[in-house]
Order: sequence, then structure tokens, then C-alpha cells
Amino acid sequence: MDSIWIQGGKRLEGKIPISGAKNAALALLPCALLTEDKLTLGNLPRLADVDSFGHLLNQLGVSTMVEGVRRGEYGRRMTLHAADIASTVAPYDMVRKMRASILVLGPMLARAGEATVSLPGGCAIGDRPIDLHLQALECLGAEIELAAGYVKATAPKGRLAGGDYSFPVVSVGATENALMAAVLARGRSQLFNAAREPEIADLCNLLVAMGARIEGIGSSHLIVEGVEGLHGATYDVMPDRIEAGSYACAAGITGGCIELVGARPGDMCSIVNALCHAGLMVEFNDHGVKVTADGKLKPLALTTAPFPGFATDMQAQFMAMLSLAEGDSFLEETIFENRYMHVPELRRMGADVEIRGRSALVHGVEKLTGASVMATDLRASMSLVLAGLAAEAETEVLRVYHLDRGYERLEEKLSAVGAAIERRSSG
Ligand code: UD1
Repeated sequence: MDSIWIQGGKRLEGKIPISGAKNAALALLPCALLTEDKLTLGNLPRLADVDSFGHLLNQLGVSTMVEGVRRGEYGRRMTLHAADIASTVAPYDMVRKMRASILVLGPMLARAGEATVSLPGGCAIGDRPIDLHLQALECLGAEIELAAGYVKATAPKGRLAGGDYSFPVVSVGATENALMAAVLARGRSQLFNAAREPEIADLCNLLVAMGARIEGIGSSHLIVEGVEGLHGATYDVMPDRIEAGSYACAAGITGGCIELVGARPGDMCSIVNALCHAGLMVEFNDHGVKVTADGKLKPLALTTAPFPGFATDMQAQFMAMLSLAEGDSFLEETIFENRYMHVPELRRMGADVEIRGRSALVHGVEKLTGASVMATDLRASMSLVLAGLAAEAETEVLRVYHLDRGYERLEEKLSAVGAAIERRSSG
């Protein structure tokens, strides 16, 4: 099994190209199910989750063709073709590996009039139910049955009618599923209190490029006029704001200066605010975002919230950075119930963090020390890498497969800005 080894203490300086957004890619890929034409997606990050999604789509009868990738280049282009949907069943062995598989439910139901998807079950960061996905689809006219660990959704007379749904809690995935179902419905649909994450706007923009009619893009009130059919399109995945934010924290924790090439400042307002309050200098230019730190970090109070609030996917990375701030920081996690699993590992590296329910008090320390640490989930793993970049001596991050789900060629990107980091295989 691979692990990542880091010799800490190097100041990072240089440029890091930001890859296509994982979370956007996972919402754009299932759009292939909505049309019998070809869909070509560019700037797809080379990640384990994207590969798994491709395999799931293959099982449903979608052909996928990846264009040759040149050495040293990031991203890739994939053409997906769902001429026919061969199976409308997404089995447990696929869904269990990747929760985002639930995103085939809406588009498959819209196109084929039925869809059967395994219930995803819990995951490391919390329960993560799918009740809102199902309620939204019911409001669009679907009939839902739950049996033997599967959800079966059917559109009466083969096509959804469309309808209105108000989300009681903001949900990124449920908004995406509802959107992909609504675009082919017979009538008009309205989604109230929809998620406003930039990845949702990316999904809407692709759907519009495929012929969908959507108003209110970027807002929490989305109005969809269903159309008879969608056509193919060619579309580039947006840049990954969470990857960019993670490397900004790498500049912060090492007192370095990193240019995040291709990052879009407008997608990163709350992250940029937090970086500035922590004492980093953030500049925007035509190429992206440049982050400069002077080695001193100020403590922060941060509460995670749906966009445009502070992203839960950045909480662990900020915690690692703030563990070296001059004073006490307060973090509050409001989205997922179990998102502090990095804390025991950070403590093993010398961080001083107290957890009280959903809050964490981070007492800044003078230094961190390298250790062997265990990654537990994707963003938690990145917080350990960040701590390792600043720690004295060597850090080994185990269970690297978590990182491979969401960071394209991490060690290559960090080495290029001066980190002493490598992947070692233990056989
Ligand atoms: C997506 C992101 C994930 C990010 C999260 C919140 C992808 C692939 N993943 O996850 O990286 O951390 O948004 O920004 O895009 N909820 C329910 N019932 C539901 C659905 C959600 O109660 O049917 C709850 C969840 O348990 C959670 C909250 O709503 O407490 C938000 O979850 P949601 O926005 O749906 O997250 P995901 O789409 O799973």
C-alpha cells in the first residue's frame, strides 16, 4: 500500500496549476445519461472518483472514451455516449465505493422513466441520508419505493411531470439530482432553498449548453422549464476551489508564496476572507490567485455553512494551518456530524485541539513534529499533509487512497513548489 512521506520545514514558492473540480465533475458526468448524443467533458481531473464514476456509467450502458493525455499535462477529455441505457440499476458494489453514485438517480429516471439505485449507507464523516433527494424527486412526480437496500424511482407514464420543492436543509447532491430530473420533465419545476455552490452553477451551465431551460442560475431559486429532449455538448469542468484553497493553506502553513494558476476568485470568497484574516496576502490576477504568507498566522473563528459560507470541505485544512497560529482559534462544523477525525492524528503531531461537540478549540502551538499518521477521509488526509509540510522531521501519511480520490498528482504539484514529498510503495 502506498504512503506519502514528507520532510517538513521547506518554504513553498512557485506556481501550482489548479485541476478541474472533483465535485463538479461528479455532477457533470451523469448528464451523459440525459441525451442519446455524445457529451464531451474537458478539464476532467485524473482522480480515482472520476474513474469510478466512469465505470458506473459503463455498467449502465454509457460508452466512455478518454483522449490521449500528454505527459506533464493535468486533466483529460472524455467523450461519453449513452445511445441507449442498457441497465437502469446502479448496484451496491459501485455505490458503496462512492456516495456520489446517487447522482445517476435523477438523470436515469428522467431519461428512462425508471431508476434503481442502491442506498449508499453511512460514511466516515456522518450519516449522510438521501431523504431530500427522494422528496425532491417525489415532488417532481416520481413514485419511490424502498426495498432490500435499494431505492426504485418510477415516472408514471414514463415521464416526470415537474413540480415545486422547497429544501428544508440546503443539499448540494439533492439539488443536483433534482435539477437533472427536472430538465426533461413535462412541465415547469421550481426548486426553493437550492444549494448555491459554484459546482451547481457549473452543472446548470452544462445543462443549458445541452438545451435545458433554467432560470435563476447561481441563486437559491431555480426555475426549470422541462424540454422534450437534450442534445450533446462540449464543456470544460470548472477549476477546483477546494484544491486551490488547500494549496493556499500550504502557502500559509509554510510561510510561502504560491500562485494558484487557474483558480477563480469569485468561487472562493469565504476561503479568501479567512486567508486574509489569518494574515495572508491574497492577490488576484489574470491567471488566478496568488497567496503570500510571512510566517506569522493569526487565529480565526470559522463556522462552516453552505455556499457562500465557509466550506466544510476546507475545515480540516484550516485547522492544520491554525494549529500554528499565534493564539486560539474556534472552529464550528455545522454540516456533517463527524468531521473532526483528523484531530487525533494532528494531536499526535503536536497540535493542541479540544473538541466540544461540533466545535473545536485550536490552541496555537510553536511547532509540529513529524509522525506516522493515518488518513481517514479525503479532506482530513490533506490536513495531515499540510501539517507534515510544516512539521519538524519526517511525516508518513498512510491510506493515501483517500488523497487519490480528490487531489490530482498531489506530490508532483507540491514538489514543484519546493516541498520534500514523495510517494513510497510498501510492496
Ligand atoms: C457535497 C460534496 C461534499 C461537500 C458537501 C457539503 C460532492 C460529491 N460532495 O456532498 O464534498 O462536503 O456537498 O458542501 O459534491 N442531507 C440530508 N438529507 C439528504 C441530503 C443531505 O439530511 O438527502 C444533509 C447531509 O447529511 C448534510 C447536509 O445535508 O448534513 C449537506 O449535505 P449535502 O450538501 O447533500 O452534501 P453532499 O451532496 O453529499
